Amino acid sequence: MSESPYKSGTTHFGFKDVAAKDKQKLVGEVFSSVAGNYDLMNDLMSLGIHRVWKRYFVATAQVKPGDRVLDLAGGTGDIAALLKERVGSTGEVVLGDINAGMLSVGRDRMTNRGLVAGLDYVQCNAEALPFPDASFDLVTIAFGLRNVTDKDAGLREMYRVLKVGGQARVLEFSEVTVDWFKPVYDFHSFRILPKLGKLFAQDADSYQYLAESIRKHPPQEALKTMMGEAGFERCSYKNLSAGIVAVHTGYKV
Ligand SMILES: C[S@@+](CC[C@H](N)C(=O)[O-])C[C@H]1O[C@@H](n2cnc3c(N)ncnc32)[C@H](O)[C@@H]1O
Repeated sequence: MSESPYKSGTTHFGFKDVAAKDKQKLVGEVFSSVAGNYDLMNDLMSLGIHRVWKRYFVATAQVKPGDRVLDLAGGTGDIAALLKERVGSTGEVVLGDINAGMLSVGRDRMTNRGLVAGLDYVQCNAEALPFPDASFDLVTIAFGLRNVTDKDAGLREMYRVLKVGGQARVLEFSEVTVDWFKPVYDFHSFRILPKLGKLFAQDADSYQYLAESIRKHPPQEALKTMMGEAGFERCSYKNLSAGIVAVHTGYKV
């Protein structure tokens, strides 16, 4: 059997080609650097619209009181907090993230909001999850898949840990579908974002990576195909804000 390209080959880190084995460390440096300013920067960069996308993502998910759900690449906990409202006091939300800095900001934020019971935090790589098969009713990943080196492995793991009948959801930047808007969006991404990063987080490079990584992420149809290849059935997506982001859904049947 040939070796996985993610062990021996190259991959992209933003617009740069890097050894695939180095990407995880490079992504780790980005999120260790941005963790403290992550929430402020999200609001500044998106003018608060990320909150609407996240609310839609959770409000339209298949989740009910008592469910056990996993939010992968959960970072500072926006999605986990919304999911906790939906699973209620009898349900459980596991927030998984590879980065200790992001997890620590997330746990403090949740605790400060009084969200403690029914929440668990696990430092883990989406490519190799430390959970048994069929452990969760719903698995989500928001703005995280883009950063995972081997996205196919990440999707396969989401499928593996999902119960039969469960749903997986991916919220991610995608391809803008409205032609006139593309240059405006490019200007915002490549001219404004790095400047905001420099001004408010003293870190232009991480926000340059953000803009570049969005352009390298598989667009809507490609990601839908990847989900099907990972085993999901009834895969579909919905564009939000002219395709700036898309919500992909798949089921384990
Ligand atoms: C842009 S943040 C998104 C955080 C949160 N989901 C949100 O929507 O605000 C991306 C997160 O993915 C995490 N991440 C990157 N690579 C990962 C991997 N291989 N496995 C798990 N988490 C990963 C980062 O540490 C970071 O917290």
